[in-house]
Amino acid sequence: MEKKVDSTSDFFDKDKVINDEQKIILVTGGAGFIGSNFIRYLVQNYPNFKVINFDKLTYAGNLNNLITIEDNKNYVFFKGDVVDPKDVKTAFEQFSPDYVVHFAAESHVDKSLINPDIFLQTNVLGTQILLNYSREHKVQNFVQISTDEVYGSISNDLNVNEDARLEPNNPYSASKASADLLLRVAYQTYGQRINIIRACNNFGPYQFPEKLVPVIIHNALNKLDIPVYGDGKNIREWIHVDDHCRAIDVIMQTGKSGETYNVGTGNKWRNIDLVEHILNKLDVNSNLISYVLDRQGHDIRYSVDSSKIRNELGWKPQIDFEEGLNQIIAWYSNHMDWVEEITTGKYMSYYNDIYKPRLMETQ
Ligand code: NAD
Ligand code: DAU
Repeated sequence: MEKKVDSTSDFFDKDKVINDEQKIILVTGGAGFIGSNFIRYLVQNYPNFKVINFDKLTYAGNLNNLITIEDNKNYVFFKGDVVDPKDVKTAFEQFSPDYVVHFAAESHVDKSLINPDIFLQTNVLGTQILLNYSREHKVQNFVQISTDEVYGSISNDLNVNEDARLEPNNPYSASKASADLLLRVAYQTYGQRINIIRACNNFGPYQFPEKLVPVIIHNALNKLDIPVYGDGKNIREWIHVDDHCRAIDVIMQTGKSGETYNVGTGNKWRNIDLVEHILNKLDVNSNLISYVLDRQGHDIRYSVDSSKIRNELGWKPQIDFEEGLNQIIAWYSNHMDWVEEITTGKYMSYYNDIYKPRLMETQ
């Protein structure tokens, strides 16, 4: 499945790059949830773009996520670690990307509470290493896929805009906020062209079943307990991954350099209401819901003001939430094999590590 990278192949021939329409895009973390959706989006919408998927293939990276486009002549996979300067140097020398879209990260808050070190290495150091080579190779735009979590918990009557203070409350969000500050340095001090994107919670196909929406659907379909942290009243804002991908595209190509853009829908749910809503759609009894010990430092509410990207770049979400949810429920129901492959072996030991202590303390 891993295509051998060959600089003399048709994939990469500088002579064929005949106009500005033909961009070379290095996507880090392209084997993960959002990255794989973004690569599929690029390959399907821009036949002139060349897309390099630079990914270490951690537990969250899965080349099966890209099976539908893996043979496309404009796509290539490069196995590399953003924390290893040798890997990054090789990729930049081989491909000379016009744009870098940086998704690669340790992305799960619960994991960060147990093992913060890897979050700092990947999310902070990895970003700096990519910025170094992007500067050297005069990348036209470095797009950092940040998160709304960097603002911390937002009180009930507020939506935060891009000027709000960074007040992260867990190692994951602190590492993402740190990376954002390194982007600021790259822009302010080294004059690099950059954008930062802070989106709300994504849902969609190929999301690793450690995150709330796939946990609900997977457990409901298998008649397993659905763990709800604390009192279930924490609020998250939800966006379909395709709408996020469209926002990234617009920002990558037309964002004003140095600017940060929030990406949100205004579509906010208490966790417990979302769980019950999905169970209703699946016609599964809510007695599967199991309240478990809360996440440490659990942010109560996220809520972004996304008027900047809407007013300045003309983006708005296109996918109706109910239609999106129905699509995702159908997708998981039809891709049990994809989920099964992940939910066995290593994933099960993770699942036990995360949930067993919680369940024991509440029983
Ligand atoms: P994910 O965990 O599904 O995927 C992460 C990918 O990064 C995997 O393919 C993994 O193999 C790769 N990776 C990890 N460490 C690496 C390393 N050292 N070198 C190279 N590749 C490495 O994550 P996701 O949910 O798709 O999130 C992608 C990005 O979007 C992250 O930066 C995250 O902070 C951000 N984000 C996520 C959400 C969300 O709701 N999931 C919302 C806003 C922002
Ligand atoms: O807001 C954007 C962020 O969204 C991204 O930056 C992160 O990478 C992504 O993981 C996500 O973070 P959250 O912590 O919000 O997502 P998660 O799916 O882990 O949890 C969503 C909410 O549901 C949160 O309040 C915790 C709760 N939860 C989660 C799980 C996995 C449960 O109640 N039970 C669960 O089993």
